Amino acid sequence: MSISYEEFRSAIHDGARRRALLFRDGRPYFVLLSQQFSREELEAMCDTATAIRRLDRHRDGREFLLGILRGQRVMNLFAQPSTRTAQSFIAGADKLGATSTLVSDIQTSSFAKGESIADSVRTLSSFFDAIVVRHPDDEFATQAAWALHGSARPVPVISAGSGKSQHVTQALLDLYTLNYSFHERGGVDGKHIAIVGDIARNRAARSLALVLTKFNPAAIHFISPGDFAPGDELTDYLRRHEITVEIHDELEPWLRERGREVDAIYMTRLQKEWDAGGEAGQPKQHANTSELGADDAYVLRSEYRLLVREDCVIMHPLPRINELPNEWEQHPGFVVWRQVRNGMWMRAALFATINGAAGEIVARAQRLGLL
Ligand code: CP
Repeated sequence: MSISYEEFRSAIHDGARRRALLFRDGRPYFVLLSQQFSREELEAMCDTATAIRRLDRHRDGREFLLGILRGQRVMNLFAQPSTRTAQSFIAGADKLGATSTLVSDIQTSSFAKGESIADSVRTLSSFFDAIVVRHPDDEFATQAAWALHGSARPVPVISAGSGKSQHVTQALLDLYTLNYSFHERGGVDGKHIAIVGDIARNRAARSLALVLTKFNPAAIHFISPGDFAPGDELTDYLRRHEITVEIHDELEPWLRERGREVDAIYMTRLQKEWDAGGEAGQPKQHANTSELGADDAYVLRSEYRLLVREDCVIMHPLPRINELPNEWEQHPGFVVWRQVRNGMWMRAALFATINGAAGEIVARAQRLGLL
């Protein structure tokens, strides 16, 4: 290996040094951190996602897309449960003509025999053109990227959820959904964005906050139970990047006072699988669904619709338990199902960007009058 794991890990957490390790030929290669992209790169990926979405509805456009990654193979290695992320990576690759394999029970691979991460991913790189990984260990994806960085046959590694720390591609699709929702209101800049729930253990919430540092929101408001409030590491990072951070511990009083100001509410579930006794990757078993739900104080009750504007965007990365009642689906700003579908477009856009095909896709959409 040309660089030790500790050096690799330290360098990717240093804004001045990470680009040399995570990008190749000016394009993302290892996708590990929400903060690894510039604003311009994030906006370009949103444009690519829109181009793919529109081309997919056009007969010639769909044929064109199928040629983009034809012949490529994607390995999806998921050591934690997933409905949306795994299937949208597969669907996104499919839209571009790649084929995918999903390993969702890691015990069926040689990890169960004690094989190292390095040997496993180097083996997979012999058969696949990209590796997508979800793992309960915060560092699994970074270790996989490090092993391939120093190998003779590297392939891109994309984190699909790393422990409690990051869910980069969720943040990308959430940003795309926010941009789409604020399209006629000047984008994310100047908006008040509330993130509600278990911030300490929710990688989607944390990654969204990190990606917002590339923009100029008016403020990020975290509303969470005290035990699950954002840690100093996250809030210090946000403040260093000139984000106004407000922390509140009760939802209803805050909505009564500030609800008309808020532009987007991002609900999250309590991550009870991480409760004491829950093994990494083996969620703690709770007796019934009611045990998994949020306390009433962190439920966006349907009567709170009267406290927010009609254009307040309501999002949730899903899965949800009780924290976002179905009645919110009648609210004009409810975009949760659009958010799910955007996962497929944004993950396709990421594959296209990694493969240097984004420019060609946008140009084709423009030529067909779709943008
Ligand atoms: N949002 C999300 O990560 O969902 P899954 O756990 O179903 O992939």
